Amino acid sequence: MNGAIHGRTVSSVSRQRRRRLVMSFEMVRLDRASSEPLYQQLYRQIREELESGSFDSSASRVPSSRVLAAALGISRPTVNEAFSKLLAEGYLQARKRSGIFVADHLPATFLKAARLATTARTEHSPRVARRVTRMTDRRSGRQLDVGIAGPPTVTFVAGLPAVDEFPIAVWERLREQVLAKKGAHLLRYASSRGEIELRKAIAAYLCDFRGANCHPDQIVVVGGMQQAMLTCALALINEGEVAWIEDPVCHMARNVFAFVGAKIVPRPIDREGLVIGKCSRQNSPRLIFVTPSHQFPFGVTMSLKRRKALIEFAESRDGYILEDDYNSEFRFDGPPLPCLQGLDNAGRVIYAGTMSKILYPSLRLGFLVAPPQLVDTLVKVRAVMDQHSPAIDQATLARFITEGFFLSHVKRVRELYAQRRVFFIEQFQKWLGDYFDLEVTPAGLHCIAWLRRREDLPLFMRAREQTGVWPRPLSFFCIKAQLDPAFVFGFAAWPQAQIEQGLAKLASAIKQLKQRGAGNGSPFQIHPFSPAASSYWPATAVP
Ligand SMILES: Cc1ncc(COP(=O)(O)O)c(C=O)c1O
Repeated sequence: MNGAIHGRTVSSVSRQRRRRLVMSFEMVRLDRASSEPLYQQLYRQIREELESGSFDSSASRVPSSRVLAAALGISRPTVNEAFSKLLAEGYLQARKRSGIFVADHLPATFLKAARLATTARTEHSPRVARRVTRMTDRRSGRQLDVGIAGPPTVTFVAGLPAVDEFPIAVWERLREQVLAKKGAHLLRYASSRGEIELRKAIAAYLCDFRGANCHPDQIVVVGGMQQAMLTCALALINEGEVAWIEDPVCHMARNVFAFVGAKIVPRPIDREGLVIGKCSRQNSPRLIFVTPSHQFPFGVTMSLKRRKALIEFAESRDGYILEDDYNSEFRFDGPPLPCLQGLDNAGRVIYAGTMSKILYPSLRLGFLVAPPQLVDTLVKVRAVMDQHSPAIDQATLARFITEGFFLSHVKRVRELYAQRRVFFIEQFQKWLGDYFDLEVTPAGLHCIAWLRRREDLPLFMRAREQTGVWPRPLSFFCIKAQLDPAFVFGFAAWPQAQIEQGLAKLASAIKQLKQRGAGNGSPFQIHPFSPAASSYWPATAVP
């Protein structure tokens, strides 16, 4: 079978080709009044016709430019321009001495897989792994579309920074600069430890400003605090082993430790921070999660005595402490306290920080500072998840820090948050002061408002529903802690006018509900509270 092409002889193929019809392009309609050039209209309409696949499959030859120009009443160069574009993009093929043909495989078909016919199946609940059913995240459907903060109007959700104050123009300029300097290098797979410039910049910042004691080689760049926690939990806790977490705690910590199958042991908080208490050897925690700079949500700063005791305890039980240096930059009554990591001579503290509150949360950049003996393990675990954080953002952040923009941004927003905090307190007293005692701590981006009368809780829950203004109930963050009813109000993310508007909205909804007597016999589930234990009572209550 000499000269066979795909099972057919050359002579049979050419006979078939000769029989092929010339495409007529009757569908072409050119609009001379349009701002779209004629050649472009012709190019587009032929391409659409070819992509639609509706042309006669025996007609694959294209009319000559002379014939088509005459048929459409346009010049040959116009037709030739449209043809050269279609030839360049692979829709047409020129064959020597034969003319122009439709390409055997149109460019679009390289990208488009055929859709296989499937029959609709009835819905069933999927069998998922235990680690998923253990998760505390109960969101579904549309709830998963919105970030944890909800819509961009005033919500008072805690822990959100003022993203509209972020210097986007500076960031963009630095990003362009790093791309111009490093080019395609930044597009390759990058180090799972993190870009070296960024690790150096972070280490210098932590040693100069956070009282840390670390080398850039101890830093692992991660995708925010959540990934920092997950990396440590996966690296250090086997299923069923104990993890201590503060109670109340940020909900994502609970979710992460439940996900990895840790036996979560909630620890209460007193005025000095996490309570160590008694604990049998076999129940020793493998990992202890704490927020010593500013306990979330209480705002307690861990005392020096407790910090030392915690490190000693971790060492004596061969455990590790995961220090989330939450909101350490945002103290309003003096300089921040040095971190726990700086006190640790025993190699027991893993320090974790995030850019989510200082810069912006969608950046998804954070870092771990690990004792040297743990670094490689954490890097390997982190690499399993997503190899590394985006290199362009890391390089931009390194410049943002080394060129001083990071510190000046922290300084500027700290002043802004201090003003918003004072304004929030004033307005809160004006609008909701009759219902709550506001607890004001000297640091952080939220306040806790304790309800004066428990019977107002259903009323307030209903007002939240009605207004879409969503301060979270304190009980949302509790594991075992049984506290008096209270709400956590974030204040940093919204300008003064919006803060006032949000509080006024809540106050007016409560008033109307009261007038209608809606608080009585409400169907809302009330968190089971007991008389407040003294250790949970607010430190400073604004009457
Ligand atoms: C205590 C605490 N730490 C850190 C974060 C930030 O987490 P991430 O870096 O994953 O955005 C939060 C989120 O609100 C938090 O509540």
